[in-house]
Amino acid sequence: MTKIDIKSSLEAIQKIAKINAGKDLKYSILTMGCQLNENDSEKLCGMMEEMNYTKTDVLKEADLIVFNTCCVRENAEDKLFGKLGEVKKYKEEKGTIIAIGGCMMQEKHIVEKLKQSYPFFDIVFGPHTTKQFPIDLYEIICHRKRIEDILDIDGEIIEGLPIKRDDTIKASVAIMNGCNNFCSYCIVPYVRGRERSREPKDIIEEVRELAKQGYKEIMLLGQNVNSYLRVEKEKHTPFEEYEGVNSFATLLRAVNQIEGIKRIRFISPHPKDFTDDVIEAIRDCDKVCKSIHLPLQSGSSNILKVMNRKYTKEQYLELVEKMKQSIPNLTLSTDIIVGFPGETEKDFEDTLDVVQKVNYEQVYMFIYSRRVGTPGDKMENQIPEETKHKRFDKLKELVENQIAEKNKQYVGSIQEILIEGKSKTNETMLTGRTDSNKVVVLEGSNDLVGQVVSLKIVSEHMWYLKGEIVNG
Ligand code: 5AD
Ligand code: SF4
Repeated sequence: MTKIDIKSSLEAIQKIAKINAGKDLKYSILTMGCQLNENDSEKLCGMMEEMNYTKTDVLKEADLIVFNTCCVRENAEDKLFGKLGEVKKYKEEKGTIIAIGGCMMQEKHIVEKLKQSYPFFDIVFGPHTTKQFPIDLYEIICHRKRIEDILDIDGEIIEGLPIKRDDTIKASVAIMNGCNNFCSYCIVPYVRGRERSREPKDIIEEVRELAKQGYKEIMLLGQNVNSYLRVEKEKHTPFEEYEGVNSFATLLRAVNQIEGIKRIRFISPHPKDFTDDVIEAIRDCDKVCKSIHLPLQSGSSNILKVMNRKYTKEQYLELVEKMKQSIPNLTLSTDIIVGFPGETEKDFEDTLDVVQKVNYEQVYMFIYSRRVGTPGDKMENQIPEETKHKRFDKLKELVENQIAEKNKQYVGSIQEILIEGKSKTNETMLTGRTDSNKVVVLEGSNDLVGQVVSLKIVSEHMWYLKGEIVNG
């Protein structure tokens, strides 16, 4: 794979750092959407810190405000426009620089709306142009000329930009970007471009470096992680095998060998690519959590076909059965969309049926949101909002009952918890997660942070459990 030259980005960072030195300038960043966007934001933060900006969560104090947007569902748009209304006055009062990046900026109608209704922004950039951000910012600082830097290309893999991570125990590592699946409801393939994987060596070296820095949990990220390197193999794009890594399964095995790392998770895999070698790698690798996110989207074979998901209800359930047979203590979570065009009561019942059968640990539920440019948006049989909401509430009730039931089963059990830090809601408590990704709070000293400890679960609450350290 060809490497992108980031020399001019790094030079711009240095030039801005000089201009900003000693000025006590601040930045704020608002991140919407998925963990890939959060990972991109960590790179933007890394660049801004090197440019001598320090972070503030108070928008009013910021000299530079960056929005990293998402366009998977409509509510993110409302959120962006609401926030832009708020920052307009800071721009007028103190000339705050406003930069808007991320997936939503790849949508032409959104950029048009920005120009019409929010013309005070300084930079717009897309997910493919993150490396341009310091170059654009330098132009703004020197010439105050508005810049639109959105590339209509497939996107490349960029290595070597600075990164400032939010956490000290858990780190996410993007292993691929883009998507070739074109599920008919989804905007991602249009804004993140074609699927492309990072070189094995770059990933392994990044994880090794993270382990050295003391990180304990690695989240491997991508829109379709279990097809890692598949497109490269199909298209004969050269890549270098490194330490035996030439697929997702071999990547899991290699990351599992890295000393210091205690847990490995990944999102999101696609059920259609869940090959036996991946199931075996999960089973064999002691650090890979036995908690898998397996997006269902719909339980109806008819809807799945129109969604272009490439599996049926029966195939999904067979896969779940196979995974449960092969991987002891497996827990599953999923994504479900209700109200996709043409969804009948019978189709929705099929979704409830799968939820009932699989008994997920967690279900992320979404009401179908029309996305301009996707096949779903052009379908005529859209579902009325009221029906969508009714179905959503019914699904939510089923899921919450299942979770409450599962929570009860945790009480009295012994769980291995990776302690992540102080609880955000109660400073005197620590917080961590089970292998199955359940939040657990406990009393304990700070030196437990980063360790895996055995806890007895003593009580359950809807969204967290409470545990006590098991002595001896
Ligand atoms: N409407 C509702 N939910 C969507 N998702 C993706 N596109 C849409 C849409 N148009 C959901 C899917 C996906 C998750 C990240 O977001 O469930 O897995
Ligand atoms: Fe969207 Fe489907 Fe690709 Fe996931 S696999 S990003 S839902 S098109």
